[in-house]
Amino acid sequence: MYAFIVRLLVVISFMKLISARVEFTNFKCKALDQEFCNFEHCYIKAVNRSYKYLTAKVNLYKVPVTRVKLNIGLYKRFNGYKPFLYNLTVNVCSFMKNPKSNPVTFYFYEFIKGISNMNHTCPYDHDLVWDKLSNEIINHRVTKVLPFPEGDYMVEMHWIAYDITRAVVKMYGTLS
Ligand SMILES: *[C@@H]1O[C@H](CO)[C@@H](O)[C@H](O)[C@H]1NC(C)=O
Ligand SMILES: *[C@@H]1O[C@H](CO)[C@@H](O)[C@H](O)[C@H]1NC(C)=O
Ligand SMILES: *[C@@H]1O[C@H](CO)[C@@H](O)[C@H](O)[C@H]1NC(C)=O
Repeated sequence: MYAFIVRLLVVISFMKLISARVEFTNFKCKALDQEFCNFEHCYIKAVNRSYKYLTAKVNLYKVPVTRVKLNIGLYKRFNGYKPFLYNLTVNVCSFMKNPKSNPVTFYFYEFIKGISNMNHTCPYDHDLVWDKLSNEIINHRVTKVLPFPEGDYMVEMHWIAYDITRAVVKMYGTLS
């Protein structure tokens, strides 16, 4: 908790703009083991100039999946993308039993809680979707809930099942 507060202060001291905006610049999903899972789709959709979203669907071939971990690394572009503030590994199955027990993970979980069918306890015995993670949801969370400094970001997620990385998802965006 102490480390979290220090990070929060670092973020706030970096902060220039209160009302920042997020633009998605790229979204990449890669299945490393296509016997285990594969992406049916993974794209950025621009509905109009102000409303854009990320959507992804992954098919799971070895259900039920009972042990899942997720590593989330945040990168910010300085001179190439460099690790920035967050690098956490979450035991998804334990976390889902008691989401509020970990405030930092809960902060990230709230991005997808309302738009993904992963929002329940293990096991996962169905295809997983992220249905419309919009720039509005992200704007709200990175400007109002916990402000981030402006810049180019990349969020890299390693989805790990039974201690093997099965998929890598990268989200790129600019906060201005
Ligand atoms: C963009 O699309 C969203 C969702 O359909 C809509 O709510 C919004 O009014 C649109 N904005 C503009 C500027 O057309
Ligand atoms: C996060 O930590 C893991 C394990 O310590 C390491 O392998 C990985 O490279 C780190 N990622 C970032 C973004 O720092
Ligand atoms: C879980 O996600 C679904 C959409 O996939 C949504 O309808 C539902 O409200 C979400 N549940 C919670 C607890 O957020």
